Amino acid sequence: MDTLRAPPQTALTVLGIETSCDETAAAVLRGYPGAGSEILSNIVLSQIDEHAPYGGVVPEIAARAHIDHLDGIIRRALDEASVKLSDLDGIAATAGPGLIGGVMVGLMTGKTLAMATGKTLIGVNHLEGHALSPRMMEDAPFPYLLLLVSGGHCMLATVRGPGDYALHGETIDDAVGEAFDKVAKLLGLPYPGGPAVERWAASGDATRFALPRPLLDRKADDPHFLNFSLSGLKTAVRRAVEKEGGVENLNDHDIADVCASFQAAVADILARRCDQAMEIFCAQEGRPGSLVVAGGVAANQMLRTRLTHTAEAQGFTFVAPPLKYCTDNAAMIAWAGLERLALGQSDPLDLSARARWPLRDLTPPD
Ligand code: KG4
Ligand code: ZN
Repeated sequence: MDTLRAPPQTALTVLGIETSCDETAAAVLRGYPGAGSEILSNIVLSQIDEHAPYGGVVPEIAARAHIDHLDGIIRRALDEASVKLSDLDGIAATAGPGLIGGVMVGLMTGKTLAMATGKTLIGVNHLEGHALSPRMMEDAPFPYLLLLVSGGHCMLATVRGPGDYALHGETIDDAVGEAFDKVAKLLGLPYPGGPAVERWAASGDATRFALPRPLLDRKADDPHFLNFSLSGLKTAVRRAVEKEGGVENLNDHDIADVCASFQAAVADILARRCDQAMEIFCAQEGRPGSLVVAGGVAANQMLRTRLTHTAEAQGFTFVAPPLKYCTDNAAMIAWAGLERLALGQSDPLDLSARARWPLRDLTPPD
């Protein structure tokens, strides 16, 4: 069980359900916005073994696995939390974006539970789950600057509150996690690629391969000033490997050096963009604030260390969720639902699941 800072008299208890990709997850959390929370249970069943032979997530396999396991995972989450359905204040389920089959399984289950118990349903945007995740445990007051880096998304935004995001920049091609996964695949490393690349990079020479830092030198009047581009970097890695005679010619040293060089390029890109965005944040808010990093790639220890220094150099506080709350989990979905529930949101039982649902389409609860 993790820290409790919520005053018990105001605390809300929420069940979270997450099924948007390859993790079947349920969690029960008790807390209140601005006061942190107690994570009573956090069950994550990874489907990695089922997808690994294909080198990536297979949507049909993911949806079937969610159907097979979600009931049992929810039961475990409630049992471990010693919470009955009747004790809940709300049921929060991911309603998108993600693989539509999986999202439908989770949302439908959330709706059924809400209908059977009469509890409030909250359809949570998965990206908002990541974006608000540091507030579960850390004191991260609004507004803060968010770098969201996951397998499907890469963006910088000022977060003013639930549903209130001012986008500074986003990727124009691959997401950062996607780039890690593709580089790993190219090198024959296991899926998911991020953790594998990080492990290999630890013993590599980051200066061995000169890789590009796409879009980095854009001026403030360029429309891509704060955007990201990762696909050129991925192609440069492929060319570097080809120049060495192909992946079959690489020994362990070479693979470690490619991983380290790639990771260093990503770190430079992210650090520079955060630097620029922090300057804009200061100009807009009149003071530094927190730099929050969330999403699966935020689990990367080297990037966390680098961005901590970047933040501190501009007087910002670096905030990132503990590692287990960076990658997909249902505690962050319960928390985002809780923040919206506290603001009075309740979603209808005919709420639709969405494959696409950008943060910019969200609005604060009425
Ligand atoms: O947030 P997440 O669990 O799922 C999405 O919403 O996409 O992020 C998964 C992504 C994958 O691309 C994975 O390779 C990457 O996060 N990732 C990492 C690390 N751990 C996970 N990337 C770099 N370093 C890591 N340690
Ligand atoms: Zn995610």
